[in-house]
Amino acid sequence: MCGIVGYIGLKKASPILIDGLLKLEYRGYDSAGIATIEKNGIKTMKDKGRVRNLYDLDGINDLEGTIGIAHTRWATHGKPSKENSHPHMDGTKTFAVVHNGIIENYQELRESLEEKGYKFLSATDTEVIPNLIYDYYKNEEKNETGLLKAVSSTIKDLKGSYAISIICKDLPDIMIVARKDSPLVVGKGINEYYVSSDIPAMLSYTKQFYLLNDGEIAKLSRNNVSFYNINLEDVSKDLKDIDWDVSSCEKDGYEDYMLKEIFEQPTAIRETIGSRLKNNEKVNFDEINFSKEYLKSLNHIYLVACGTAMHAGLAVKPILEKLCHTNVTVDIASEFRYRDPLLDEHTLCIYISQSGETADTIAALKLAKSKNAKTIAISNVIGSSITREADYTIYTHAGPEIAVASTKAYTCQIILLSLLSIYFAEILEIEDTKFLNSLKEEILLLPKKALNILNDTSKIKNFAHKIYKEHDMFFIGRGSDYSVSMEASLKLKEISYIHSEAYAAGELKHGPIALIENGITVIGILTDPNLVEKTVSNLQEVITRGAKVLVITNQEIESKNYEEIINIPSANPLISPVLSIIPLQLFSYYISKEKGLDVDKPRNLAKSVTVE
Ligand code: AGP
Repeated sequence: MCGIVGYIGLKKASPILIDGLLKLEYRGYDSAGIATIEKNGIKTMKDKGRVRNLYDLDGINDLEGTIGIAHTRWATHGKPSKENSHPHMDGTKTFAVVHNGIIENYQELRESLEEKGYKFLSATDTEVIPNLIYDYYKNEEKNETGLLKAVSSTIKDLKGSYAISIICKDLPDIMIVARKDSPLVVGKGINEYYVSSDIPAMLSYTKQFYLLNDGEIAKLSRNNVSFYNINLEDVSKDLKDIDWDVSSCEKDGYEDYMLKEIFEQPTAIRETIGSRLKNNEKVNFDEINFSKEYLKSLNHIYLVACGTAMHAGLAVKPILEKLCHTNVTVDIASEFRYRDPLLDEHTLCIYISQSGETADTIAALKLAKSKNAKTIAISNVIGSSITREADYTIYTHAGPEIAVASTKAYTCQIILLSLLSIYFAEILEIEDTKFLNSLKEEILLLPKKALNILNDTSKIKNFAHKIYKEHDMFFIGRGSDYSVSMEASLKLKEISYIHSEAYAAGELKHGPIALIENGITVIGILTDPNLVEKTVSNLQEVITRGAKVLVITNQEIESKNYEEIINIPSANPLISPVLSIIPLQLFSYYISKEKGLDVDKPRNLAKSVTVE
């Protein structure tokens, strides 16, 4: 969703700001803009459309300021337009502000400012912020302290979520930033500081970052940064070294980030397994130390997440349930948070989020904490908001995921949660050690098997070419193959805009088979030897009714009028989703390419969904 960039230093700010916005494009947006402090005051340039359009704006190259803020907007209040684009200024043009999040009480604040004579130019919630800052600032000393006080008073008035970056024409040597429930990091250079919604956008400038917590304010000058709480009391903060390299955030010769990320899966899986699993040893998680008594006391485990991360939860439910002998429920975060789930100290809640910034997932986590349930965050982004809320955090090591459509994060989440299930089982001592060891051996083989699938993508590419003009498809499977069907169907919708449905194969006859007609494509996933015959029968039923069938399988199956069979390496069904999803990620990718769509930035979608 919206992205923020800021720069204060000795260099011209505008190229750095636009470059940062380009790197944040993947988050999803509809307008872009920048503001710098020039000799004669603050200059803003903004419009709806792509970040690149900023290069064409008259006067953009004349901006000389060495301090500035920038923004990509994903419309919430007010349509995409120049007026609604950020940065927004107050009526006197003293302040420019960029904002990510939603100000829930903006209407009330706007009305009270309008009563005082303030005029508004946009339909946004954000515009109240610069005006409110001005309203407080006008009564303060025109110095850093006065500005800090005005900002502190302003954010105390705001309800909702925000990451904001503020520049002031009277004080061209400082920038103020603040956050609550919206991501913001401060990068440190030499005689310069960077502000960004996420670390990858600034990695080509610095690898040292301060991570702001909720309710914190930072004051940046060219050679210093100070942190405060909302009452302007000093806060001390450590500088974090980030070991992601710049190339991991670039396309590296691939046509799109999504393709690169699909092909990175063997490495990402290996990295996620890392030192947690070694030959002939028990699984190890330094991040948590649960006792046998605690695990035995659990009567329910929840896996809570959104979208693909929720599908990763569905894929691991069977292994977690089997190995821990406990009820496991997978919940959509936006449902969980509003349905008063049964939670207490005997409940363990595991929250899965690639970005660690998904508003509903964070809110669902806070709910569990308020009811004394223990919480674990599974995230891919170091220091992300969810990791600061959870009792425990375990990181996937997928590396930065830039494409909106999640691929490597999904497979790494499944790996990590499968390992966690084995870790619990080894503490509980209720599963057969031989079985656990065989699962561990299989997990260690997954990177190689994933590579094997990626070594020949011709069949799936050809099939995508045959059917890319279709409008409806079905994905079917049983057990863990059903959970993969759901993820495959989501991928297809997201990047190819083709309508598709995922069904448990056994459910077809209970309604959806009415939709099967001549020529429709059905994709069957068959990796569970105990269920394969049953799904084969379901596939025959759709073939009889005219469907074209693509099969993804690791079983020996007779070719019974299938259009295509993609064979993948064998794996225990408990972990097979890690492999069976790969050809289906490629399937969506190739269809999207055939249709000439923007694979990495599909319409209407955002990489991290920071509003509910
Ligand atoms: C995945 O392809 C989607 N773009 C989306 O469903 C995503 O998985 C979901 O928004 C959750 O994101 P998170 O993992 O960052 O919390």
